[in-house]
Amino acid sequence: MRLTETADVWWKNAVVYCLDVETFFDTDGDGRGDLRGVSQRIDHLAELGVTCLWLMPFYPTPDRDDGYDITDFYGVDPRLGSHGELVELITLAQDRGMRVIADLVVNHTSDQHPWFQSARASRQSPYRDWYVWRDEPPPDADKGIVFPDQEKSLWEYDEQAGQYYLHRFYKHQPDLDIANPEVREEIQRVIGFWLQLGLSGFRVDAVPFLLDTAGALDAADLPDPHDYLRDLRAFMARRHGGAMLLGEVNLPYKDVRRFFGDEDGDELTMCFDFIGMQKLYLSLARSDPAELVKSLRERPDPPEEAQWGTFVRNHDELTLDKLTDEERQEVFDAFGPEESMQLYGRGLRRRLPPMLGNDLRRLKMAYSLLFSLPGTPVLFYGEEIGMGENLAAEGRNAVRTPMQWTATANGGFSIADPDRLAAPLPEGDYSPEHVNVAAQRRDPDSLLNWMKLLIQRYRECPELSWGRYTLLEHDSRSVFAHRSDYEDGTVIAVHNFADEPAHVALAVAGAGVGVQAVDLLSDGTADVGEDGVVELDLDPYGCRWLRLIRPGDRYIV
Ligand code: GLC
Repeated sequence: MRLTETADVWWKNAVVYCLDVETFFDTDGDGRGDLRGVSQRIDHLAELGVTCLWLMPFYPTPDRDDGYDITDFYGVDPRLGSHGELVELITLAQDRGMRVIADLVVNHTSDQHPWFQSARASRQSPYRDWYVWRDEPPPDADKGIVFPDQEKSLWEYDEQAGQYYLHRFYKHQPDLDIANPEVREEIQRVIGFWLQLGLSGFRVDAVPFLLDTAGALDAADLPDPHDYLRDLRAFMARRHGGAMLLGEVNLPYKDVRRFFGDEDGDELTMCFDFIGMQKLYLSLARSDPAELVKSLRERPDPPEEAQWGTFVRNHDELTLDKLTDEERQEVFDAFGPEESMQLYGRGLRRRLPPMLGNDLRRLKMAYSLLFSLPGTPVLFYGEEIGMGENLAAEGRNAVRTPMQWTATANGGFSIADPDRLAAPLPEGDYSPEHVNVAAQRRDPDSLLNWMKLLIQRYRECPELSWGRYTLLEHDSRSVFAHRSDYEDGTVIAVHNFADEPAHVALAVAGAGVGVQAVDLLSDGTADVGEDGVVELDLDPYGCRWLRLIRPGDRYIV
C-alpha cells in the first residue's frame, strides 16, 4: 500500500494550527476563551483546511508562564472548561477530519504543583527525588539562562527544603528529574491518559532541556537520554499507532538530526525547523534568498516517515539566537528597530504583518513559501488573517492577543468588559476594525482566502510533502526557485524576494515534448521549451506554483 494514499503517516502533509484556548473564543462572557469556544469556531479551522489542531497548555495553572507552569498534568483548568468539553472538541474535530494534539510540558512543573510542595517540605517525601536538588549551586549555575531579563541563575535556594533546586526556565518552574525512573513512568502515564482521551500526539516542550540530565548528581552513570526518548516513542506507538511527537528542539542542524532517532526515525516524529525560520527572516530582510538556500543545503533530510515542522511565527518571541550578531542586527534593523520590539536581546515580540509593513504582496509570498518549502507547515492562530501584535502587552504576550473575529466590540472575541479580557487587543492599523475574520471571509483578495488556496493546493500536491526537492539554479538574485518531485509528478515553485519584477529561465530536467507548466495559484501556463527550459515572469514580491503536465497525466490542474 502506498503511504501517500493512506493517512497512516498523516503528519507528513498535515496543516498544523496552534491556538491558546484562553485567547480564541469566549462563550461564557468572563473575558477568557474556553474549550466550548474552540468547539463553536471549529468550522473556521475546517474551512481553512487545518488537519491538526495543536492546543497550547490547558492544564490547571497559576498562569505565571501562560499555562506552561502546570499544577496537574491530568487536569483541565476549570476556567477553560472540563474534560467533557475537551472530549467534545476532539470529537467535533475528528468529525471534520482534524486531529488534536496538545503541549506536553514535562521538563518542569509549577512550584505550586503538589509534587513540588511535598518535595520541598521534607527530605523524606516520596516526591523529593522527582526534582533536582543540591546543597550548593554548581559553578556554571548562571550559564544558559533562558529568560535573562528575569533570572540570574538556574539554581534557586528554597528555604523550606534547605537546598537549591534546578530550574531551566523561571524559578517558579522547578525541573523534574527525568533520570528518576519514577518520573519517567509518570510521564508515560500522562501520555497514556491523554491518548486514551482522544489526543493524537503532543508538541513536546523544551526537548533538549527535558533530556538534559547534567544537573543530576550521578549524571555520568545514567543511560543515554535518547534511549529514553526512544522508549517514550515506542510506548506511544504501542498505545496509539497513529500518534506523533512534534518536538521543540532549537539546536544547530547537526544536533537536531539526532532527535529524529536513527534511520527509521524512532524518536521524535517531527522537529521544528528553527534555523530555517531564522534564515527566512534574514533573507526577507535582505530581499535575497541566498541564506535560506544555504540553510536548506545544510538541513539534514529527516527519516522517511518523519518530517520537519516549518513555521513563520510561533507563540514565543521570534528567536534569532542562531544568527550571528551582525545578522541578528540586520533583522532587528529591518523588522524591529525599536527596543520595545525586541526581547532578551535575541528575538522580536512582533507578528509578521507589521514587520513587513502590512504589504499584502509580501505577506502572500512569505506564506506561499511556507506551504511550498519541504516540511509540515505550522500556523499560529491569527496568522491566517494577518493579525498584528500589541506592544503594550508584557513580553511575549505581545503576540498572544485575542483572536479577531469581527469588527465589533472586543473583535467579537468576548462580550466581557474590555478591561476583563484575558489579553488586550491591539489598537490602530491592526485593531479588529481593520483585521478580522468576518471581513476577510467576504473579500476574495484577502490573506485568509489566499491561505485557504495555498492549503488546498498544498494538500493536493504529494510532491510538496512526500517528494524530493531540488533547488533550481538561475541568475536572478532575488528569486528562490525549487522543484519537488514525487513519482511522476513535478511541482515548481518560484518566489521573488524583491520589490521589482523578475524573470527566470529554469532548466526543468525530465521535461519532454508537449510539456507545459500550469499555474496552480492563478490562471496561467508556460511552455517548456524542447531544450527543457521554462521562462517565468514574476511580479514584485510575486510567487507562482506550477505543475509540469505531460500529455495524459493523472494530476488535477
Ligand atoms: C517553551 C515554550 C515557552 C515556555 C517554555 C517553558 O519554550 O514554548 O512558551 O515559556 O517552554 O515551559
